[in-house]
Amino acid sequence: MPNENEKKTILITGASRGIGKAIAEALNSSVYNVIGTSRNIETIPKEDKISGVRYIPLDLTISESIDKLIRDVGNVDILINNAGISQVGPIEEVPMEKIRDLFEPNLFGLIHLTQGLLPMMRERKSGIIINITSMASRSPVPFSTIYGVTKAGAEAFSKGLQNEVERFGIKTVVIAPFEINTTIPQEIFLKDNSPYYDITMKTKNIRDINLASAPDPSLVGKLVLKILKSKNPKFFYPVGKNSFIKNFLIKHAPREFIRKQTMKRY
Ligand SMILES: NC(=O)c1ccc[n+]([C@@H]2O[C@H](COP(=O)([O-])OP(=O)(O)OC[C@H]3O[C@@H](n4cnc5c(N)ncnc54)[C@H](OP(=O)(O)O)[C@@H]3O)[C@@H](O)[C@H]2O)c1
Repeated sequence: MPNENEKKTILITGASRGIGKAIAEALNSSVYNVIGTSRNIETIPKEDKISGVRYIPLDLTISESIDKLIRDVGNVDILINNAGISQVGPIEEVPMEKIRDLFEPNLFGLIHLTQGLLPMMRERKSGIIINITSMASRSPVPFSTIYGVTKAGAEAFSKGLQNEVERFGIKTVVIAPFEINTTIPQEIFLKDNSPYYDITMKTKNIRDINLASAPDPSLVGKLVLKILKSKNPKFFYPVGKNSFIKNFLIKHAPREFIRKQTMKRY
């Protein structure tokens, strides 16, 4: 067991529930200093707080909140950019300001936080940055297109980040979940009398049913542990039921085949 000074510090954004909470749960607090964030740490139910985890406030849509965390947190050895939100609505009808609202935590906030913690990692010539994206970055779910776009942005950002910081001993990893059983809310945007109404709601219902019977978020927690134990982690890890084969097909099967499968599923 490492002593207090030798322990690595892990920062997990969005650790109040779902995947972030499961990652915090999987990490042994006698091996790591685990810090988890929430917009409002006072409202995290007692039973959802993981023993040994230090909770600090962070709202990725507010620059001052990100800057405050960067100033206060001290050295972070492993950053897990997990926090994110979701939306549903046809491209034609989602208001532009709501599109911007989705990009704020899912991409801009993630970039801002990463920028702020990089100097400490670079100076110490070590660090791991794990970005939680989504398989929707590679094959967008119909009527959740903008969500997929934010996640594709996070994946492209991760590729570029790896190019730039590998030379300073900093590793970059992407975890792309595919349907994990959490209660991630989906704000719906549909105009009155929308020609997309029925198909959008049908797609949303199918997605909700799939999520309800999807694997538990502990699967992602176990994967993070595996990555942290690995000397040379890969860049990209799909996670979820059939996610490996899904990713293989997206990479190797004709685009039209993948598109038809997606349309059939939803
Ligand atoms: N569940 C899936 O099937 C699935 C699939 C693909 C990808 N993902 C991705 O996995 C990540 C976790 O998703 P989840 O399913 O665990 O969702 P979740 O249960 O809704 O948890 C989201 C976390 O993000 C935090 N959060 C939300 N808005 C925030 C903001 N503005 N600033 C800072 N933190 C914020 C929430 O904390 P507070 O509300 O306490 O602030 C919460 O802890 C997300 O990036 C999501 O896109 C999930």
